[in-house]
Amino acid sequence: MDNKNPELRTPNPEPVILSIETSCDETAVAVTEGYRILSSLVSSQVKEHAPYGGVVPELASRKHVTALNFLIDRALEEAQVDFDRLTAIAIAGGPGLVGALVVGMAAAKTLSLALEVPLINVNHVEAHIFSVLANDKSIEPPFLCLIVSGGHTILASVKSFGVYEILGQTLDDAAGEAFDKVAKTLGLPYPGGPAIESASKTGEEDRYKLPRPLLKSGDFNFSFSGLKTAVIYLLRDLKARDEDYRVEDMAASFQKAVADVLTSKVMSAAKQFHFNKVAMVGGVSANAYLRNYLTREAKDRDIELFFPVKDLSTDNAAMVGLAANYYYKNKKFSNLFSGVNPNWQLIV
Ligand code: KG4
Ligand code: ZN
Repeated sequence: MDNKNPELRTPNPEPVILSIETSCDETAVAVTEGYRILSSLVSSQVKEHAPYGGVVPELASRKHVTALNFLIDRALEEAQVDFDRLTAIAIAGGPGLVGALVVGMAAAKTLSLALEVPLINVNHVEAHIFSVLANDKSIEPPFLCLIVSGGHTILASVKSFGVYEILGQTLDDAAGEAFDKVAKTLGLPYPGGPAIESASKTGEEDRYKLPRPLLKSGDFNFSFSGLKTAVIYLLRDLKARDEDYRVEDMAASFQKAVADVLTSKVMSAAKQFHFNKVAMVGGVSANAYLRNYLTREAKDRDIELFFPVKDLSTDNAAMVGLAANYYYKNKKFSNLFSGVNPNWQLIV
């Protein structure tokens, strides 16, 4: 029988944390024990947002409200953990959509207060960095990290966990945002990343010559808005000339352009700053073409690559739990007055 008295229970050396992630269009709850993931559930809102071709913030908040309680129960059940075994509650408090974040934060604070366990407020982008810790092979800082998602494209030096230096970032659209917008232009479904990856498999990647923005800029910044516009103009011109074209060829040419730029900047930064360990995280890191491209380039350079397991590339709560585990061990807790921060920067 589970002993309800914490004094009499077997001491548990690893914190058992329930984590909540509601920053955008996925409602996610996970239970972790140390760096072990006991359960990780993601309820995607893709179907709800698909008719609009992108995330509708108000709709996202409402869906989080209806999904959250059920997911919390299921995550605990799957992990075979009772409420009273939890040692902390973690929440991704930003960056993200304000209404969506507030829903998760309210639930996290309520649980923290009711269960009398600490609250850990985690930066969503930092949580992506921690997603690589769920793999068999563990990574120790310092390492170079490319964070590529729908909201961010950041090349960061991870000096130690919690200490980051941003070497470069996008000056306009994030890489994932470009995938989504180009997919929309090409009539492919939302989210665009997986749709473009799948269409590209039967496409000719050298069929169209597309720009590689900032490839030779000499710094580590990115720009994807011009590339997106180039695809829009290409399609417009092909249609105006009544020329035949294949969406697959355009998708593959676009995907190659993105991979060229990302890989080239990662390799130059690794060389300039002497990194022999590189991680790639975030939704776009699920892309197998990009993973293979980086792997080919890293091979000759004696660089060891680290990717999250695919399910942890895109938004999830397990990565929040992994980051929270680190903060729990370092006794960095939040309190009930901490709020959400839609613009929370990786470095404050
Ligand atoms: O990390 P994530 O789930 O959410 C944010 O924090 O933004 O990333 C979502 C982004 C979307 O733009 C989606 O199109 C992209 O990641 N994505 C992909 C793939 N899977 C998701 N992009 C390229 N290839 C994929 N397989
Ligand atoms: Zn994310």
